[in-house]
Amino acid sequence: MEEKDIIISVDHLTKDYGYHRGVFDVSIKVHKGECYGYLGPNGAGKSTTIRHIMGFSKPQEGSVKIYGIDSFGNTEKILERVGYLPGEPAIPAGLDGMGFIRMMQDMRHERNNERLEYLLKTFSLDPNVPIKSMSLGEKRKLAVVAAFMNDPEVLILDEPTSGLDPIMQQVFINFIIQEKKRGKTILLSSHIFSEVDATCDTISIIKDGIHVSTFKANDLKEPDVATYNFYFHNLESIEEFKNRKPNCEIIAENKNRKIVTVKVKRENYREFFSSLSGLAIREFDEKPFTLQDYFMSFYKEEKTFGGLSGVEGNKK
Ligand SMILES: Nc1ncnc2c1ncn2[C@@H]1O[C@H](COP(=O)(O)OP(=O)(O)OP(=O)(O)O)[C@@H](O)[C@H]1O
Ligand SMILES: [Mg+2]
Repeated sequence: MEEKDIIISVDHLTKDYGYHRGVFDVSIKVHKGECYGYLGPNGAGKSTTIRHIMGFSKPQEGSVKIYGIDSFGNTEKILERVGYLPGEPAIPAGLDGMGFIRMMQDMRHERNNERLEYLLKTFSLDPNVPIKSMSLGEKRKLAVVAAFMNDPEVLILDEPTSGLDPIMQQVFINFIIQEKKRGKTILLSSHIFSEVDATCDTISIIKDGIHVSTFKANDLKEPDVATYNFYFHNLESIEEFKNRKPNCEIIAENKNRKIVTVKVKRENYREFFSSLSGLAIREFDEKPFTLQDYFMSFYKEEKTFGGLSGVEGNKK
């Protein structure tokens, strides 16, 4: 993709809150029309990054731009083109849902009643209810409707499905897929693998404020390596297997259950499987590689962080 297609650009952003908290030298680029997943556990730095993108916080170092304009100090301008769903939406309790919607429309000097109706229907929300009597999920839906009722070009969603039940989570995922089809650019932060997997084209992982990997979702679905579990009859065969130095990476060994888990590069399949001949192997199966596995691999070992080369052998 070309430079001119970049909608959101975070360049070497650092915000140090002390005690190793904050974000450190984070760079992400979101291109027009893509759905970008920003994946990380609690406290990783997702909301901090997003607050900088929305212009609420000033970068200590680095730059944050949206449509080529520095975000900081330009929130109002940003909101003309961006729908933002905060991690913890602040909704004034004194109004009813419709009152809040009208207030937001007046603030933006824009009314798109057709879009509003569509969103209320999609998320099954009755807005004619006092906000103070709404459940957490209903308030969340109201925040969603308010964020997207003027049909913005860009959607920035900070953990959008938290507080929604599984059915509504699915409705939300479908909504994102629809918006993507309509050409919208989407940045979504999450720690839920399934929703990122179902919606995102590009995924970045952040851990302890540090960017650890960016990759295309499709590369993960068809990785260049396969992971197998081999179930041996006895421990001697496991030793024999290892002595043969097969062309693979042994990633786990369970002596009690006599299971060895290996990663094999697709290009080495034939050679690898021929090297097994005569070993007392009861059976084997392939472990499908998931986003969760990839994510968790950053927590199991101190690996050298990189792109998807992490999948291919952790080197970069
Ligand atoms: N204003 C602040 N002052 C001091 N520390 C902060 C501030 N904002 C965030 N932090 C710290 O920075 C780190 C990143 O916080 P952030 O809210 O960005 O995480 P997150 O990835 O959004 O987590 P969650 O999934 O829990 O929402 C945390 O350790 C948090 O305590
Ligand atoms: Mg957050």
